Amino acid sequence: MTGRGQSIVLIGFMGAGKSSTGKALARRTGLPRFDTDEIVSIRFGLAIAEIFARFGEEKFRDAESEALGQLSDAAPAIIVTGGGIVLRPENVRRLQELGSVVSLEADEETLFRRILRRATRPLLQTEDPRATMVELLRVREPLYREAADVRVDTSLLTHDEVADAILKSLEKL
Ligand code: S3P
Repeated sequence: MTGRGQSIVLIGFMGAGKSSTGKALARRTGLPRFDTDEIVSIRFGLAIAEIFARFGEEKFRDAESEALGQLSDAAPAIIVTGGGIVLRPENVRRLQELGSVVSLEADEETLFRRILRRATRPLLQTEDPRATMVELLRVREPLYREAADVRVDTSLLTHDEVADAILKSLEKL
């Protein structure tokens, strides 16, 4: 991990379990947790869906990149990101500077089931959310894979099990 910060950075598609795993990791390690969605939401004083509706995706993406810029590479933390963070190559470079990048993954069925539990994701408010999800996944999967130091399939694991798997894999890096 030379030349890198000591943070643990979670990336992955909506429903991959980034938020809950981030909380489990923060509990286990005692490190502070930063979530780019939360930072952006606080900055606008609005829920993410509302930011998309009022200002559009591009403004959200700008704020997301700014949020990353505010995070310190000196102080280790658990960093949770939104599913689209990998769309900008400069974000990926920044995440890699911050620490070890962990891609959380799950099969399509599992992702869709988890996504359905929270109907707040603006990008999936379409006539056929499943088809939209599949298309977004097709574009993004290679980006998650290329950005990651470690990949964890979360389909059959609890959040605590995912957190343990991450910590074990990072020991070996
Ligand atoms: C997005 C994922 C969301 C949030 C926004 C855009 C995406 O975060 O950042 O709705 O482009 O995949 P989660 O991955 O936490 O749902």
